Amino acid sequence: MVLTERIFINAVKGKISSRPPIWIMRQAGRYLPEYRELRKNAGSFLNLCFNPDLACEVTLQPIRRFGFDAAIIFSDILVIPYSLGSDLDYMEGEGPKLSRINSTKDVESLKCGRSKEKLKPVFSAIKKVRENLSSDKSLIGFAGAPWTVSTYMVEGGGGHDFENCKKFIKEDKNTYLKLIEILVLETVEYLCMQIEAGADVLQIFESWAGAVPQENIEEFIYHPTKKIVCKVKEKHPQIKIIGFPKGIGKNINDYVNKTGIDAVGIDDSFDIGEVSRQLPGTTLQGNLSNEILANGSAEEVEKAAIEILDKMKGRPHIFNLGHGILPKTPMENVEILVETVRGYKESLNEREAG
Ligand code: CP3
Repeated sequence: MVLTERIFINAVKGKISSRPPIWIMRQAGRYLPEYRELRKNAGSFLNLCFNPDLACEVTLQPIRRFGFDAAIIFSDILVIPYSLGSDLDYMEGEGPKLSRINSTKDVESLKCGRSKEKLKPVFSAIKKVRENLSSDKSLIGFAGAPWTVSTYMVEGGGGHDFENCKKFIKEDKNTYLKLIEILVLETVEYLCMQIEAGADVLQIFESWAGAVPQENIEEFIYHPTKKIVCKVKEKHPQIKIIGFPKGIGKNINDYVNKTGIDAVGIDDSFDIGEVSRQLPGTTLQGNLSNEILANGSAEEVEKAAIEILDKMKGRPHIFNLGHGILPKTPMENVEILVETVRGYKESLNEREAG
């Protein structure tokens, strides 16, 4: 029997394969015509997330088209507030809207311990995807980090200036930390269920790492994330976890060292080679600009990708963007990116020879 190598898992573990694996944040989504078509007929976005057949299909769409090395289960970070009892609605062009949490009473009225039941369709979808995904590809389960998820709950939606969060922390930090603790416990349960359903790797999205006041970063980001990592690994010691702290800036080393994550996604504000020198043993994921992928010419996309590949040559690396793919991204640019990463070793040999 030939054992197919999963280059994605190898990279998360710090091993170097003949080329780096590639996937793209938000790879299942609106830039794909086949997603838009299915989305149109599914009714609401949550209908799509909570229908295992449709969620499975949408998860596999980008794998079929581009052959990425990993699939990410189609869901959303806000399904945890949903399972806690929040009204959740995704408004066209406005982003998500949720019930606002801004008092001790609101925090106490959250309905804890229901994710196993309420999010069952996500676990069914994971099982289905794993059954239909070829064995050389990995399936990524995910959740939002407590701080990032809390910002949507406290602000009642996205696209915000975090004024309510900052005010809440200032006026009643202990209650805010109770909300964070609830999110830690719910997230641990949710991630463990995803592993049990068939997820091979996990990613924790800390999309608003840059918005936490610096003096609160230990309590709101490092400590809760570490707790999630420890508790999930207590139950599933083999699982590998990628953290994606967007906007973490100068705190990147602390984030990696203090949370215990296995690999780190870096946004495009970083020079990836520089971060790799600071964190030589850590697998880095990233960090092509999503704007270049959306607006660049074929040559610009190829050049930017090769620059990253050259910097990460011989270092543990998962190719990705610095943030989610933009809906306006042309299909051809994604094709060029995938070809560039796939053909990198050959192009390197040619360049070195000539
Ligand atoms: O391919 C994938 O990445 C799988 C699924 C996925 C979605 N959301 C689907 C989605 C993942 C991993 C997410 C994560 C997510 N959701 C994050 C973290 C990553 C990031 O981008 O920072 C955040 C902050 C959210 C919250 C969220 N969900 C917002 C702010 C929005 C509205 C803005 C937008 O992009 O439309 C969503 C909706 C959403 N989640 C869509 C998709 C495909 C678009 C909804 C639609 O198709 O109608």
